[in-house]
Amino acid sequence: MVGIDKIGFYTPQQYLDLKDLAQARQVDPNKYLIGIGQSKMAVADMDQDIVAMAANAAEEILDAEDRQKIGLLIVATESGVDQSKAAALFVQELLHLHHNLRAVEIKEACYGATAALGWAYDFVSLHPEQKALVIASDIARYGLKTAGEVTQGAGAVALLISQKPRILALEKQSIYRSQNANDFWRPNYSQEAFARGKYSEELYLQMFSQVYQQAAELISEKSLAALLFHIPFSKMGRKALQTLTTQLTDSDYQRLEQRFNKSIIYGKNVGNIYTGSLYLSLLSLLENDDTLKPNDRIGLFSYGSGAVAELFFGRLQPGYQNSLNPHKHQELLAQRKKLTIKEYEQIFQQHLVTDGSSQLIPSKRETGHRLFKVENHERFYK
Ligand code: CAA
Repeated sequence: MVGIDKIGFYTPQQYLDLKDLAQARQVDPNKYLIGIGQSKMAVADMDQDIVAMAANAAEEILDAEDRQKIGLLIVATESGVDQSKAAALFVQELLHLHHNLRAVEIKEACYGATAALGWAYDFVSLHPEQKALVIASDIARYGLKTAGEVTQGAGAVALLISQKPRILALEKQSIYRSQNANDFWRPNYSQEAFARGKYSEELYLQMFSQVYQQAAELISEKSLAALLFHIPFSKMGRKALQTLTTQLTDSDYQRLEQRFNKSIIYGKNVGNIYTGSLYLSLLSLLENDDTLKPNDRIGLFSYGSGAVAELFFGRLQPGYQNSLNPHKHQELLAQRKKLTIKEYEQIFQQHLVTDGSSQLIPSKRETGHRLFKVENHERFYK
């Protein structure tokens, strides 16, 4: 049995209230709060790039034995910091991991972490005495005053994959599809993503429907206790869930809807963290729902624009609650500083130097990992 043994989470310590964004953009706040279904979005300072966030998410879950047993480290990201070198190599050093491991980066928009999870599953199945660390870390940027602005966010989720997992045992069989599509993309020269917003929503729903219908046999074996979604914004997942109203009994739908509502609590306050978003939904459900039971079966729908979709399943393990850290994560969200629109716009427009000169990166953090300097086109972390 292979699956998720521990889950770590990190998000920058400042946010923008979407009511303030609505006012600044002269939009009815209910469009953002209800129409999009989001409340706040995390905003990353320059010292919290995807490497620093990845290390911060993993740091909270790893003990000495884990560090020693990790044989595969994958950082999945849309917002990598280097065209060549894997973010995982910086993270390996920051986490004081040994050198007998594979450290790589995986990219496929918001699907990357699910691809990484598949590789980690195979790796641990082959090497049961070892563990794999998958970290999803992203900063979602669409640009000031764009339609996608309200669906930005930043954060990282770390998943430790092992034999005899303490949280969620993953099932071997999953259903996946891919097709070449231009619903969302980011050319190498651009800091901001481009999206055909409405088309991306249509494709998400279309691919969800395709994998769900293909998985019908797998699903009907036993009804699901919860169905989780990639959440670029909570309304997107809700729309996907609502496509099932005609296929499910009222009681099945209500159960899934109640648990869906628990799964979006964290994401509504963090925003889109691209490849980590599905796993933040899982963490949110497990840390906010007290009705789930061991052996409950959970479905997870992963979607990455471009586009790849996968529906896979897992079973909750006895005592899974003991491996979670709800108070810490709720505190992490609660203690964040609220930014004014002006502060948010200033932070958004900051950039690292690109001419090879030396730049010390200011930081508001006293603890944890951060980017502290760029020099000669290299990044330096502590
Ligand atoms: N009260 C309540 N609801 C309101 C409202 C009000 N006053 N005013 C508007 N709304 C509703 C609208 O009716 C609409 O609801 P439906 O979607 O149910 O029709 C919703 O608010 C959004 O409003 P618009 O239709 O005007 O949409 P928009 O032009 O503002 O764009 C968006 C919305 C397409 C999601 C845009 O934010 C975007 O492009 N985001 C980035 C792309 C994205 O996240 N796509 C998701 C699928 S791709 C993916 O999942 C991968 C990924 O992470 C990127």
